[in-house]
Parts: sequence; structure tokens; C-alpha cells
Amino acid sequence: MAAPDIIVAIDQSELPDALDDAIESVAAPLLDSGCCDLRNVKNFLHGTWLGHPLHPVLTDVPLGAWTVALALDALDVVDGGDTHARGADAAVTIGLAGAVASAVTGLTDWRHTDGRARRVGAVHATLNITATALYVASLVMRRRGSRGAGRALGALGFATVSASAYLGGHLVYGEQIGVDHTAEQTAPEAFVPVLAEAELPPDGLRRVETEEMPVLLARVGSQIYALSDTCTHLGCSLSEGSLDGCSIRCKCHGSEFSLETGEVLNGPATFPAPCLETRVRDGQIEVRGCPD
Ligand code: FES
Repeated sequence: MAAPDIIVAIDQSELPDALDDAIESVAAPLLDSGCCDLRNVKNFLHGTWLGHPLHPVLTDVPLGAWTVALALDALDVVDGGDTHARGADAAVTIGLAGAVASAVTGLTDWRHTDGRARRVGAVHATLNITATALYVASLVMRRRGSRGAGRALGALGFATVSASAYLGGHLVYGEQIGVDHTAEQTAPEAFVPVLAEAELPPDGLRRVETEEMPVLLARVGSQIYALSDTCTHLGCSLSEGSLDGCSIRCKCHGSEFSLETGEVLNGPATFPAPCLETRVRDGQIEVRGCPD
């Protein structure tokens, strides 16, 4: 499906590259600190522990809170009175707290994107930062008693974050960021032969095909393991990755999966890899889906 014109325009513009450099210059010192291993922190921010990206869960907080603030500001204009004004101020503040959490998780995910998704993501992040700055200014004006200016800045912030939400939606539905790239796959129900055992060397990786899905075969010691060959993060082939004991590391962005269960050991992936059972019959490696 062709991308909407605005997405094509962003992709062809030089602006995202400049934004990318600026955002990366802030993110790298925070998330690539040489002082300590931040893998657990990054796994938390990606949502590896949740089995689902954390960022889209948190974005509902600023969008919801700032929608409430907009409605209460409108009621304040119509009715006046202190209650609506105080409610709007509280909603702006809650939205700002949610925006910070969303920004940190979004930044962590964005760094593991490529191509058009990364370019659109850079614009998405810039719009969110702009909206957040507008709401900070709005809150300052409200606290100083300039309610009209505070409401106007809030309305501008809402328009900005709405435009950004459109790009966020495109990143998920158009660029497939944050979705499970094995969601459409089903494993064979019965054992099917996929490779002669002699063709899988010790500590070797092979990609084989079944009718249902591409499969990664890995031999570790005397054990043969099988997972979907599609990395759940962005779809790279796990057979091009590297073995580390009983885990496989994706070459694209470093996600690690347990060969025994498909569990995500390290992100940015958040969805587990579909695992398959293996057996050897008549010199052939056979696979079928793991029981649920
Ligand atoms: Fe990104 Fe595998 S495709 S970690």
C-alpha cells in the first residue's frame, strides 16, 4: 500500500536527518553510558518484561490528560469559576508527567529503527517535544494568572500532539514498529522433516522452510533447537545472528531469545519467538509447534 503523501514528504525531506542527529546526540550519552550495563534498564523501557512495547501504553496518559484539559478549558471559558480552571491545570500537569515517561520509552525504541521508520520517528519525537514545551509554557502562564495565554498555548500543544499521534499511528500500522513480526505465522501441527541431520554442524545455525513458516535450526552440544527464523522485533532472519550458549542474538538490533523457549532475554524485542519441538527420524531433523 502506498504511503500517505505526508509520510512520503517526510521521507524525502532533509529535515529528519538533522533531527536524527540532534536527538541521537541527546540519547547516546543517556542510553549508551560506558559506566555501567544498562541492559536491564533498556529492557524495562522497551517493555520486554511486559511482553508488549511499553511506549504505546504510556502515550495514552498525555493524550488523555491533555484532552481532558482542553475540555475543562472550554468549560472554563463558558462557565468561568475556579473548579474547571483547577481541573485543567491538574490535567496539564498529569499530561506532562506522562509525556516524560512516553519520551524516554519512545526514544529507547526509536534508536532501534531504520530507514523511513526512523525518519518519521524523528519528526514524531520532535513534535512531541514541541507539544511538551508548549504545555510547560501553558502551565507557567496559568500559574501566573494569565489564563487566556495558558489556554491558548494548551490548545496549540494539543494540535501539535495530535499531529504527532498521527505519525505515531503510522509508525505502528504503516511501518510495523512495535508489532509482532511473527503474528501471522503458524507452526506445523505434526512433525515435518526439514533437514538431514548431517547438514547441521556442531554449534551451527541453519534456516529451513516449512509450508507454514521459516525456521531457525540451532545445534548446541547434543541438542537441536528450533524457533521461527523471523525476529519478532523487525523481522530479520535469526539464522544470520550469533549463538551465545542456549540463546540466539539477532544481528540487526541485538535482541536475544532463549533457544529452549523462545523467551526474550534482551530487547529491543518484546514478543517471544515461536518455538518448535525437534526430533531426529531416519537421519532427518523434524519440527512441529511447541504445545501451548
Ligand atoms: Fe531488530 Fe531482530 S530485527 S533485533
